Amino acid sequence: MQLTDNVVARQGEMAMKRRGSTVKPPARKPVPKGLVPPHVQSLQPYQPGRPAEELKRELGIDRFINLASNENPLGAPASVQGAIQIAFQDAARYPEIGGLKLREALAHRYRVKIDNVAIGSGSESIMANIVRAFLHGDDEVVTANGTFIGFYVLVRAHGVRLNLVPLKNHRFDLAAIADAITARTKIVYLCNPNNPTGTIFTRAEFDEFMHRVPEHVLILMDEAYVEFTGNSPDFPDSMTYRYDNVLTLRTFSKAYGMAGLRLGYGLGHDYLIGYVNRIKLPFEPNTLAQAAGLAALADHDHLYNTRENNRVGKKYLVEEFARLGLDWVPSWSNFVMIDLGTEEAVNALHQAVLRQGVAVRPLRAFGLPHCLRVTVGLPHENRALVAALQMALKPR
Ligand SMILES: Cc1ncc(COP(=O)(O)O)c(C=O)c1O
Repeated sequence: MQLTDNVVARQGEMAMKRRGSTVKPPARKPVPKGLVPPHVQSLQPYQPGRPAEELKRELGIDRFINLASNENPLGAPASVQGAIQIAFQDAARYPEIGGLKLREALAHRYRVKIDNVAIGSGSESIMANIVRAFLHGDDEVVTANGTFIGFYVLVRAHGVRLNLVPLKNHRFDLAAIADAITARTKIVYLCNPNNPTGTIFTRAEFDEFMHRVPEHVLILMDEAYVEFTGNSPDFPDSMTYRYDNVLTLRTFSKAYGMAGLRLGYGLGHDYLIGYVNRIKLPFEPNTLAQAAGLAALADHDHLYNTRENNRVGKKYLVEEFARLGLDWVPSWSNFVMIDLGTEEAVNALHQAVLRQGVAVRPLRAFGLPHCLRVTVGLPHENRALVAALQMALKPR
């Protein structure tokens, strides 16, 4: 306890020093015994990326490029701005509680009923509601070691056992995951394409897996990056199946360029969606996000440009990675993972490119400490990344 408080106070002092402030932070009160359950105590505090302005000041650089969070470098669709302005007229009112217009548009897009659609403040919010709606006590969750960290955090915060199955060749090992299912397994989380590896499991692998999955298990299919898979027949788009025990999650944060607006959706059997919607906070997503989602769905040009920028940028990046002798993993998404072999090499390269004003993501928290992930940016951002990598890797 003492140690934790000291660490918090020290972090506060360091943050003040960075900001140039001399006022001492208030002393932290000790946490009363028993207040925080053990499964919450064991959670690591979230480590946000440092603000760009702060980094620029500290490093003495005037340019900062963020390729750490798989955001859309083209920004949000212009059409979204107009929609938000119109929706702003209703900003003083609570959103309409069922989110009907956006759910209707999504139902139309996927040829399902409105009762098959949930919307939330980001797909992570729906994921949180799924965890709260379906997991309790001795339930177990199975997924890969080396997938989306947000899911690990939600399950651990709920105090439920998380069984992590190693990746095989940087891919979900569906056969091993099926082997790991027990009578207690309630949810299997599959991320396709996977963040942070960028790999997919194929249609044939998924078919075989679904034959082995018992009916009591809910398959949570996180398809946050589905728009980047290019309609390949190898990719098992979960919406082409309609299994009763599969819940699909998708988002407006990536290909639609709206990460800051917080909007995602879930698709599944109406009995599942019904429970998710019962758990959900009544007024999310907010009015502006819902209006933005409607506009974004209709903006096919922005989606096309996003995919093109990604296709061309990714090709350039991997060619340059090969030239630099880096060991990268072929990606179906808007980012590429580089395997550097050791955590020391990852930390050194991360710091070296950061000093040159480019942020990338080290992957210790994802269970892959020897790997680093870079998001595909605009052409000039990709060139800056390659130049920074080249400089960092130059023999001294
Ligand atoms: C695989 C995956 N799922 C879900 C999310 C969360 O997305 P959202 O912004 O919709 O909450 C992310 C965000 O990085 C992600 O990579």
